[in-house]
Amino acid sequence: MAPLLRVSDLRAHYVGFGGTRVVKAVDGVSFSVEAGETFGLVGESGCGKTTTCHAIVRLLSPSGRIVSGRIELEGEDLVKKSQAEMRRIRGRRIATILQDPMASLDPLFSIYDQVAEPAYYHRSLRGRSLRQRVMELLAAVRIPSPERRMKDFPHQLSGGMRQRIVGAIAQAGGPRLIIADEPTTNLDVTIQLQYLNLLKDLQRATGVALIFVTHNLGIVAKMCDRVGVMYAGKIVEMQSVRGLFYRARHPYTKALLDSIPKLGVRQPLYGIPGQPPDLSALPAGCAFHPRCQRATDRCRVEEPRQHSPNGDGHVRCWLPIEEAAARG
Ligand SMILES: Nc1ncnc2c1ncn2[C@@H]1O[C@H](COP(=O)(O)OP(=O)(O)OP(=O)(O)O)[C@@H](O)[C@H]1O
Ligand SMILES: [Mg+2]
Repeated sequence: MAPLLRVSDLRAHYVGFGGTRVVKAVDGVSFSVEAGETFGLVGESGCGKTTTCHAIVRLLSPSGRIVSGRIELEGEDLVKKSQAEMRRIRGRRIATILQDPMASLDPLFSIYDQVAEPAYYHRSLRGRSLRQRVMELLAAVRIPSPERRMKDFPHQLSGGMRQRIVGAIAQAGGPRLIIADEPTTNLDVTIQLQYLNLLKDLQRATGVALIFVTHNLGIVAKMCDRVGVMYAGKIVEMQSVRGLFYRARHPYTKALLDSIPKLGVRQPLYGIPGQPPDLSALPAGCAFHPRCQRATDRCRVEEPRQHSPNGDGHVRCWLPIEEAAARG
């Protein structure tokens, strides 16, 4: 059966200075998401995670454009859809949860209006059934006293509550896929955990698939089934979550894992040396080679192809880490 979403060789660039500066934010990204699963996208700041998400729902900023590739949702290529068609898809078939709930909520509309809108527009609910649906959605995201709270405006709620409201809005159109781009970065750790548990519960109840973007590998371990590790606009490694933590094959993935501080181990903190490259002036060969301890002459000139060492997941590296070394 075809996956729910299949992204193939997607390229999305930002073009500035009259076309003389091209930022290759997404440069040949391929992955798929099955119904009901959680696919994680991880990587350092600026590697193209948000651009990938925005390209899928066609919400790139004005300088951004999809240069090539396919984005198939249940077999239909979204790249070929008009903006009007995309408006019918956003909210109804794919919903998004962004990092900053205040940016997604409209300060001038009540919680009721904002949760009701997708159910009104995409599910044609009216009158009492619409009100009933809003109450159900607010209860599902554990807003206490939903009847009273739905008259409130965003500024009257706490940060955690606002993010739960955004979760309710995402559910309101009954989507098959939710793209959550760092949805918990602005929340404190206890509220963060509550929110992640809530998303998991909603997923179990509705069978919705999730693309979960984060740079926190602890959250990846908790939330995701499979993970794509992005570096400089490309997915450099893709694996099951278990595989990623126990058999990381790309030196970048290994470096990310090594930079998590470990409790009870007295070691100097490790950080990946150097900086991510400028995406408008990428180095030749593998984009990670200037920071990679394993880099050889070939890595400096020839870009690694994607390959699957054991048929499970894939990696873009000329010298992937062997199984035994990955465990050490
Ligand atoms: N509107 C824009 N115009 C030009 N360049 C942009 C624009 N938005 C993003 N970029 C560039 O595209 C690259 C990828 O950005 P993106 O926001 O997708 O990264 P990210 O992985 O989501 O990072 P973060 O973890 O910080 O959210 C970066 O180099 C960024 O500077
Ligand atoms: Mg981002």
